[in-house]
Amino acid sequence: MTDDAPSTRQRPTSGIDTSVPHSARMWNHWLGGKDNYEVDRAAADQFAAAFPAIADNARAFRHFLSRGIRYLAEDAGIRQFLDVGTGLPTVDNTHEVAQRVAPDSRVVYVDNDPLVLAHARALLTSTPEGATAYLDADLRDADTILRTAADTLDFDRPIALVLSGILGHYDDEVADAAVSRLVAALPSGSHLLICDGTDTSPELNEAQRMHNERGAVVYHLRGHERIGRFFTGLELVEPGVVPCYEWRPEPSPFEPPADVHAAGGVGRKP
Ligand SMILES: C[S@@+](CC[C@H](N)C(=O)[O-])C[C@H]1O[C@@H](n2cnc3c(N)ncnc32)[C@H](O)[C@@H]1O
Repeated sequence: MTDDAPSTRQRPTSGIDTSVPHSARMWNHWLGGKDNYEVDRAAADQFAAAFPAIADNARAFRHFLSRGIRYLAEDAGIRQFLDVGTGLPTVDNTHEVAQRVAPDSRVVYVDNDPLVLAHARALLTSTPEGATAYLDADLRDADTILRTAADTLDFDRPIALVLSGILGHYDDEVADAAVSRLVAALPSGSHLLICDGTDTSPELNEAQRMHNERGAVVYHLRGHERIGRFFTGLELVEPGVVPCYEWRPEPSPFEPPADVHAAGGVGRKP
């Protein structure tokens, strides 16, 4: 989307703020999408000038997400997904990966960005056997998420909670509280999938520090061990919390991208 895109002109009261960069829209720019505004592109490009591999990082998150969802549907037999911090629709959205394996998969997407809401139609395609729903809700308001998701998901059956690229937006206290509140509501056999940026590159740390100082879309890079603590009380699926490109990689003639700093993992609730 460009600044003069029809969808923006037609939605003057949509709550979309084009004066400050937004996470979903910067992410969309790094992924090569068009659903972003000048302010997002400027912030994203400024970040990329300090850490050029940021687009590789965004793609590595998506590849991990795709492998993780496929594992959950294929190997763990999960048929229900709660994807909080969905982002703008792109290739291999959660329901597409899950429903390719199991057409009866039910997926609830949650995001608090009004532009994601405006694009929710693209997330709401579903196989006839399955279902998708979109909630305009906030990670920090677990009660609303759980209450509304229950219209689509059966909380007596296992659910995969997907938190990809969202926990870093919050400090430890807020992120821990959100994860434990949501996981507590899931039945035994449920899973948690996390992918989050790590503090393992001095260049990325510096780019993030400068970006955070500008104040719009703050992100907290964490160590692998700290990200692993979000899985406390869960059984980690092999190979544990690892650089996301090392998590059950698919055979590829290409080397993994050299400068990716993100940890990925999946845990099962006993
Ligand atoms: C970096 S993007 C990640 C998108 C996608 N999950 C992925 O991995 O490609 C982070 C997403 O989290 C959403 N987000 C940030 N804070 C949120 C909150 N408190 N509640 C719901 N969504 C939030 C943003 O709007 C954005 O879409």
